Amino acid sequence: RKKVTIQTLRSLHRRQEPIAVMTAHDFPSALVADEAGMDMILVGDSLAMVALGMEDTSEVLVEEMLLHCRSVARATKAAFTVGDLPMGSYEISPEQALSTAIRFVKEGRVQSVKLEGGKEMAPTIQKITTAGIPVLGHVGLTPQRQNALGGFRVQGKTRDGALRILEDALAVQQAGCYAMVLEAVPEDVAALITSKLSIPTIGIGAGKGCSGQVLVQTDMLGNFPPGRFLPKFVKQYGNVWGEAYRALEAYRTEVKSGAYPSPEHTYPAPKEEVEAFAK
Ligand code: KIV
Ligand code: NA
Repeated sequence: RKKVTIQTLRSLHRRQEPIAVMTAHDFPSALVADEAGMDMILVGDSLAMVALGMEDTSEVLVEEMLLHCRSVARATKAAFTVGDLPMGSYEISPEQALSTAIRFVKEGRVQSVKLEGGKEMAPTIQKITTAGIPVLGHVGLTPQRQNALGGFRVQGKTRDGALRILEDALAVQQAGCYAMVLEAVPEDVAALITSKLSIPTIGIGAGKGCSGQVLVQTDMLGNFPPGRFLPKFVKQYGNVWGEAYRALEAYRTEVKSGAYPSPEHTYPAPKEEVEAFAK
């Protein structure tokens, strides 16, 4: 498979072929996403919850994101890689944002960064893209601002709300983003916004009308215990938790019973050597 570049993404968009994006947070999750043919791999700050067990994304540090980005970059041969700038690492000034973005490229080894926000982030996006680092925008529901939004709620359900997202999307495009995530927006609104843009939209909970889709890998794999809340847009394509649980429980049972390790999983040594050793 050929390396996906920003030109590849443009040509997918031109041909109206949906862009397949998947999150990854470490070497194995990136390896499988890359081998499965993803166009883009996003090291999302959702790893705060799904890989580090934090309450929300606001806790994750730049250094932690960089460690995960590096491990994903090592596994990714073809997909275009994106690192999520965590809360607090880019909002203070365009200079702060650029210096964080540079660390993501130099230390995180990703090809692009993502940041949340609309109009107000335009100067920041411009600063980073002008320095030669491609920026993926993120409008609609922006989880890093959950406290200001009043939780994880669908955005743009009213005419005014939809207009605000459209303005944000246009501003982010104008500022130089090559694409943007559109999160938790009604399908018709997302489709209309997408039709007014010249860059691709990557939807999550935003329906079919987007130029591509992204999901959090841990969610779509079903790699979490039963009973966990999942947003409506998550389609569970696997039951990795169930499979892991079954295997681990079988192992524990066999250790307790002595069924493991059996001769096939054990190294023999010449009998006379062992006898000599035992003396
Ligand atoms: O953090 C994340 O995984 C994301 C995607 C879901 C868009 O931002
Ligand atoms: Na994120």
